[in-house]
Amino acid sequence: MRFYIETYGCQMNEYDSQLAEYELLRSGHEKCISPEEADLVIFNTCTVRKSAEDRVYGQLGHMKRYKKKRTIMVGVIGCMAQKSGQKLIDDVPHVDFVLGTDHLNDITRVVRFLQEHPGEKIVLTDQDDAFLETEELPRKEAGLSEFISIMRGCNNFCTYCIVPYVRGRERSRDPKRIIEEIMRLVAGGTREITLLGQNVNSYQWGKTDFLKLIRMVHDIKGLDRIRFTTSHPKDMSPEILQTLMAMSKVCNHYHLPLQSGSDTILKAMNRKYTEAHYRSLVETIRQADPLASITTDIIVGFSGETDADYKKTKEMMQFAQYDSAFIFKYNPRPGTRGWEIADDVPVPKKQQRLEELNAVVKETSDKRNALLLGEKVEILVDGRGRSSDIQQKGRTGSNKVVVFDSEEDLYGRLITVTITDAVGWTLFGKMASI
Ligand code: SAH
Ligand code: SF4
Ligand code: F3S
Repeated sequence: MRFYIETYGCQMNEYDSQLAEYELLRSGHEKCISPEEADLVIFNTCTVRKSAEDRVYGQLGHMKRYKKKRTIMVGVIGCMAQKSGQKLIDDVPHVDFVLGTDHLNDITRVVRFLQEHPGEKIVLTDQDDAFLETEELPRKEAGLSEFISIMRGCNNFCTYCIVPYVRGRERSRDPKRIIEEIMRLVAGGTREITLLGQNVNSYQWGKTDFLKLIRMVHDIKGLDRIRFTTSHPKDMSPEILQTLMAMSKVCNHYHLPLQSGSDTILKAMNRKYTEAHYRSLVETIRQADPLASITTDIIVGFSGETDADYKKTKEMMQFAQYDSAFIFKYNPRPGTRGWEIADDVPVPKKQQRLEELNAVVKETSDKRNALLLGEKVEILVDGRGRSSDIQQKGRTGSNKVVVFDSEEDLYGRLITVTITDAVGWTLFGKMASI
C-alpha cells in the first residue's frame, strides 16, 4: 500500500512516526508525500490539550470525503488513540484501526489483517511494561539531525497532565540499543542527535544514569552535537548542569519547563521543586555561559492561580530572560487529578495572562538575540536560505537559526560565523572561518 503519516504533538510522536514508517517500509509498503495519493492514511495523535484533539477530529472528518471517492484505510495511533480507543471508531466510523502507544510495532500485522478482512475494525490499547523496540531501525537515510528515544512514559503525574496515562510508566531503554542506533546514524551522515524522553534526567538502566549515558554518547566518533529534551527541573541540579556544560558536544540549550513561578501553584501542580531551586538552575547556566539559551513551558490560569501567583511567574520570566517559551492556557484533561479540581480562573483572565507573558517572551528573546551581535558562534549548516542562491542557514548550539551567504555549499559542516543582525527570530551572520 502507499501510506501517508500525519504527525501531531511532540518530538516523541515524531520519533514514533519514524518507527511506524520503518515498520511499514520493511514489509514492502511505499511512502508517499500527501494523503491524496495514499491508500493508507495514518494519524499519529496528541491529546495533551483539547485543541490537539480537535485538530485531529477535523482532519479525520476530511477522510470521509476521500473514502467516498476510493478505497482507503484510515488508522489512528499515538496518545489520543491510547486515550480514546473504541470511542474513536464510534465517533468517526470511517476509522479502520486504532493502535495505542504500546502497539506501534503491530502496525504491519494489523494492516495485513484488514487488507484480508475489509470492513473489520481493530482497536488495540492494552499497555505494556517493556520498552517498545522494533527489530532494528533500518533508517532509509540518516538526516543531519535526528531524534533518538531513550525512555518512554512518565511517572511524575503532574496534576494537569495526561501524558502518564496515555504513555504509561517510565521505561528506560537499553543503552546498548541507544548507542548502536546512534552509531548507525552517524555512519550514515548524522552529526547531531537529540535524546528524547518526557523526563530524560531520570533515565536509569542498571547503573547507567543520564550523565553516564551522555558520556557514552559523547564518546561516539563523528558525532558533533548532543541535545536532549525534556529535563524536569526537579531532577536537574547545578552540579549536573555544570557537568553537562563542561562537555564539548553538549549543546548550550537548556529546556527547563517552569510551568509556574509560584511555590503554591508548583505544589498544587505536583511539580516537586521550588521557585528557589529553579532560580539556582538559571543562575548556574547564566554564570557558566552567558550565551547559552534557556527555554521553557508555562501554564497560565491553573486552578487557584491568583494575581499574586501569576505575578511570581512573570517575575521568574524576567529573572530567567528566556530565549523562547511556550505559554499555554490551562486546559483541564479528563482522567487527570486536575480534572477533579475547579477550573476557577475565567477564560478571559487566562487569555490576558497568556498575551502578557507572550509579550514578555518577545522582549526577553529580542534582548537575548541582541546579546549575540558581534559574537562569533559555531553553526551546523543545515539548508538553504530563501532570499538568494548563495544564502544558506544553520543552527547555533543554543538552537537559533542563522542565515549567511557563501558561494560554496556548506551543508553538513560546522562553521563559525559572526552575528551581524537580528530580525525577529532570525539571526544574520558573516562567515568567519571554516
Ligand atoms: N514532559 C514534558 C512535556 C509534557 S507536555 C515536561 O514535563 O515538560 C508539554 C507541555 O504542555 C507541558 O510542559 C505543559 O506546559 C503543557 N501542558 C500539559 N498539560 C497541559 C494542560 N492540561 N493544559 C495546558 N497545558 C498543558
Ligand atoms: Fe506531564 Fe509532568 Fe510527566 Fe511532563 S513530567 S509528561 S508535564 S506528568
Ligand atoms: Fe501529545 Fe503524547 Fe507528546 S499527548 S505532547 S504527543 S506525549
